[in-house]
Amino acid sequence: MYRLVFSQVLRRFDAEAVHRLTVSALALLARLPLLKRLLHRAFAPHDPALRVSAFGVHFPGPLGLAAGFDKDAACAEGIAALGFGHVEVGTITAHAQPGNPRPRLFRLVREHAVINRMGFNNAGAAAAARRLRRTRGVPVVVGVNIGKTKVVPESGAVADYVASARRLAPLADYLVVNVSSPNTPGLRDLQAVSLLRPLLTAVKEVADGTPRRTPLLVKIAPDLADEDVDAVADLALELGIDGIIATNTTIRHGGETGGLSGRPLKARSLEVLRRLRAKVGDRLTLVSVGGVEDVDDVWERLLAGATLVQGYTGWIYGGPLWASHIHRSLSRRLRRHGMKSITEAIGRTA
Ligand SMILES: Cc1cc2nc3c(=O)[nH]c(=O)nc-3n(C[C@H](O)[C@H](O)[C@H](O)COP(=O)(O)O)c2cc1C
Repeated sequence: MYRLVFSQVLRRFDAEAVHRLTVSALALLARLPLLKRLLHRAFAPHDPALRVSAFGVHFPGPLGLAAGFDKDAACAEGIAALGFGHVEVGTITAHAQPGNPRPRLFRLVREHAVINRMGFNNAGAAAAARRLRRTRGVPVVVGVNIGKTKVVPESGAVADYVASARRLAPLADYLVVNVSSPNTPGLRDLQAVSLLRPLLTAVKEVADGTPRRTPLLVKIAPDLADEDVDAVADLALELGIDGIIATNTTIRHGGETGGLSGRPLKARSLEVLRRLRAKVGDRLTLVSVGGVEDVDDVWERLLAGATLVQGYTGWIYGGPLWASHIHRSLSRRLRRHGMKSITEAIGRTA
């Protein structure tokens, strides 16, 4: 049904317009307590076997929504009501910024992929903090992904991330330092250990200082050389970072300028996960994202050592209840394998 609606209606409209409409609809849903609770009851993961704990946070299921959809923390409850086990909001920057000129979001329908060069369009950390402070009508695990304000030079990057962390870490179930989006000039240079060390050290100090100690993760690009993936993993272990999110979008493609996501990213994302797992074992929480389309992909990532899995482009092509369907299929798969908990699957083939 969704495939029909997508191919006959949605794909004829500008991708960003459809995105904005969806965010508005989900934000509206958040203001309708009864409907929100009904949907949550029907579609959120409720099977105890799907529960997973990571860095002290309890997730109702392993599949969450990756950063970039709910950039302003406007509709996390609506997203959770459709079946996602967590929502990573952002990327949020210290200062509000408009992002790149439009068009900046392109569908590659045949490839089940998307190219985006949004450029961290968002209303800034103060506005996001106001939204995150609102009480929630349904339970939802919210990760907060922070990035550098475009106009801030590299020399001011640490202070800029710290400003966002101060506002947002106390309101986040986990905090993510994003140094891997391709659409802010110079951002990915911060993945070099010499720059990443002072950045993560400073943000960690803020995250450690919140009343509940907010877990801290770092999100990396698929385009890092293998040795650089290893170097980030070593640094994360050394600094006591809680986990690594791998991966962001890739710039290795021949299309529009921007980062490519979806099916073509699948193989490299899995490769980076396998490399990270071989390097760190279960000493860090690994969150796998990139090209996840169905229950087979989620299962493969779990077996390869991911504790949590995220998707974004798969949802665009899979339809509103994509995450709910995958969680249901995962429940059935666990039973088939005689497993009582999803945690038995994590790292099985690593
Ligand atoms: C339109 C769009 C916007 C995105 N914006 C962000 C962002 O602001 N911050 C971020 O860390 N990742 C962002 N991403 C990357 C996703 O979080 C994810 O890492 C990437 O798309 C790979 O997953 P997928 O293949 O399931 O989409 C964005 C992706 C898309 C498609």
